[in-house]
Amino acid sequence: MSAEPSLSLARKLHSAPASADALAAMLENPGFGRVFTDHMVTIRWSEGRGWHDAQLRPREPLTLDPAAAVLHYAQEIFEGLKAYRAGNGVVLFRPEQNARRFQASAARLAMPILPESVFIHSIEELVKVDAHWIPPGDGSLYLRPFMFANEAFLGVRPAAEYLFVVIASAVGAYFKGGNKAVSVWLSKDYTRAAAGGTGATKCGGNYAASLIAQAEAIEHGCDQVVFLDAAEHRWVEELGGMNVFFVFEDGSLLTPPLGGTILPGITRDSVITLARRQGLAVTEKRYSFEEWQRDAKSGKLREAFACGTAAVVSAIGEVKTTDGNFTIGGGTPGPITEKLKDQLVKIQRGEMADENKWVRRVL
Ligand code: PLP
Ligand code: COI
Repeated sequence: MSAEPSLSLARKLHSAPASADALAAMLENPGFGRVFTDHMVTIRWSEGRGWHDAQLRPREPLTLDPAAAVLHYAQEIFEGLKAYRAGNGVVLFRPEQNARRFQASAARLAMPILPESVFIHSIEELVKVDAHWIPPGDGSLYLRPFMFANEAFLGVRPAAEYLFVVIASAVGAYFKGGNKAVSVWLSKDYTRAAAGGTGATKCGGNYAASLIAQAEAIEHGCDQVVFLDAAEHRWVEELGGMNVFFVFEDGSLLTPPLGGTILPGITRDSVITLARRQGLAVTEKRYSFEEWQRDAKSGKLREAFACGTAAVVSAIGEVKTTDGNFTIGGGTPGPITEKLKDQLVKIQRGEMADENKWVRRVL
C-alpha cells in the first residue's frame, strides 16, 4: 500500500553505493545516529511555486548560503520514526502520526505545510531503496525527516524558501547499556518549555536549549535529564528526548498530561492504548517531583519508564538530584515496563496482532 503523492520524486540512484563488505562492517554495531544510508530525499518549497523539485538522490552534503535563515533564527523542525524488518517484509510504525505532528510543528514555526501523502511517500521511497541497511537482529532504520528555512535573508520574518529532507540511519539501541534500566538527572536550573512556547513542537531549538541540562546529566553519570514545568518548577514534564510513565503498586499507570509544553509522543500514545487494552488504568495527570521521590521511597511507586521512537521503552532505575539520589523498584526493569515494551516491539515487528492497524507495510 503506497500513499498517493501529489508530487512525484525524480530518482537518481547512487553510482557507488556501499559495498556488501563495508555495509556488513557498519551494521555490526551501528549504535545510534552515526551510520547513514546511501540516499536521501529533498523537496524544495518557495513562495509562489509551493513544493517542487522533489528528488530521491545520493546522500551528500547540502550547500547553504551563509545568510540562510535557519542559521540565524533556527526555523527548523524534524521528525523521527523507524522502519523495521517484519517477517520477510519491511514496515513503518504509525507514519501518518509523524506526518501530522510535522504539520503541527510547521504551523507553529510559521513554515509551509507538507501534505501527509508527500511526507509518507518520501519516507517509503527512501526505505525501499535503502532497506538493506536495516541491521540484522533487533536493529532498525531510523528515518529523520526535517525541514529548514534556506532563504538568504537576515530580516526577521518567516522565510520564503525551505528545504524538506529525509535521511536514514541504521541504528541499534539508543542507550549504551542496551536493556539495562537508565538513570535520570533532575534539572533544577533549566526548564525545557513554557506555556505558549514550542514545547509541543519537534523543533531543533527545543533540543539546543536542552543540551546544557543534558550535559549536566552526563556529568553526573546519568543517561537523560528530566525537566520540571517552567511555572512552578514542581511538576514532572518529560525527559530530554522521551516521555515518561510511572507505574504504581496497584498496577495503574500515570503520565504527565499533554498541555502544550511536552511533546505528544507517538510511543506515549501507543503505550496508553496498549496498557488500557489489557485492563491497566492509565491517568494523564500532573505528578510532582516531590510525589515521585516520596512514592519511590514508600514503595507505592513500583516502576518508571521513558518512551520514544529512539528509546523504545526504557526502564528508569535511578534518579539523581543535587539533594541526593533514589532508586525505583530496586533499580531494575519491572514487569509492567517489560511487558509493554515486549508488546510494542512485537507489534512493530509483525510478531503480534496489530489490532489498531499501526503498522504500514512498505516492502
Ligand atoms: N519527548 C521528546 C522531547 C522527544 O524528543 C521524543 C522523541 O521523539 C519524545 C518525547 C517521544 O516521541 P515519539 O514517541 O513520537 O518518538
Ligand atoms: C526520537 O525518539 O525520534 C527523537 O527524536 C529523540 C532523540 C533523543 C533522538
